[in-house]
Amino acid sequence: MDEEKLDTAKKHFGNEEAVVYDDLIRGKIPGYDAMHDMARLILKNSVPEEAKVLIVGAGTGTETVALLESSPAWRITAVDPSEAMLATAAEKISRKGFGARIHLHTGYVADVDSDPLFDAATSILVMHFIPDNGEKEAYLKEISKRLKKGGKMILVDVGGDNESDRYHKVIEVWKNFQKEKRSDPENVDKDFEHIVNDVYPVTEERTMELLGRCGFGEVERFYEALVFKGYVATKL
Ligand SMILES: C[S@@+](CC[C@H](N)C(=O)[O-])C[C@H]1O[C@@H](n2cnc3c(N)ncnc32)[C@H](O)[C@@H]1O
Repeated sequence: MDEEKLDTAKKHFGNEEAVVYDDLIRGKIPGYDAMHDMARLILKNSVPEEAKVLIVGAGTGTETVALLESSPAWRITAVDPSEAMLATAAEKISRKGFGARIHLHTGYVADVDSDPLFDAATSILVMHFIPDNGEKEAYLKEISKRLKKGGKMILVDVGGDNESDRYHKVIEVWKNFQKEKRSDPENVDKDFEHIVNDVYPVTEERTMELLGRCGFGEVERFYEALVFKGYVATKL
């Protein structure tokens, strides 16, 4: 496992963040629940009843629990480098009694077996933490390698042209959204230093290029909210 990447995930998704994540996330991401609902319903509509699903960057388990709940025959492998985030996910999963259909793995997608292949994968609010210096492409390739032909992937990230005025104007709107919606508005300005330093947005054009290079096509945008964009792509 890459120690530097592990540190980045731990720095922002350690014990303290895991405890407050579920309380704060809805005040951070406009349409968080609707986005997750749409992602779940898109997958449910396009993969088999007994699907195997890979969840990359599972965090505190939002999509893992929702998918296990709504699709009783699905089996899920969920991976995340943050032990603290996954511990919260594990607690929720065990409370619901889903243990037998889920494998939780502390680490990265590259650590997950690529045989047998998965029917679907999600990467929700994860890839924007990965720089576009070859690492985003490597990350998508690792997901692609683990999907069956025709398999679906949900990809949701901060996107846009970091160099443009438009992007920064939208970031200001996003900051004001958080100041209105979060229970801790006093922390918003400090948190945005993390957004500026540790988030690596790319344009939609670049997202399409990366997906194409990694064996994905038929890409459709299903969600857009301020700087966030969500896509469903097919493994060709
Ligand atoms: C904003 S949270 C999103 C969690 C969840 N998907 C959701 O929608 O609430 C981002 C998660 O990605 C994880 N993460 C960061 N870098 C990662 C990487 N390279 N591979 C997989 N997960 C990563 C973090 O530890 C964190 O739990």
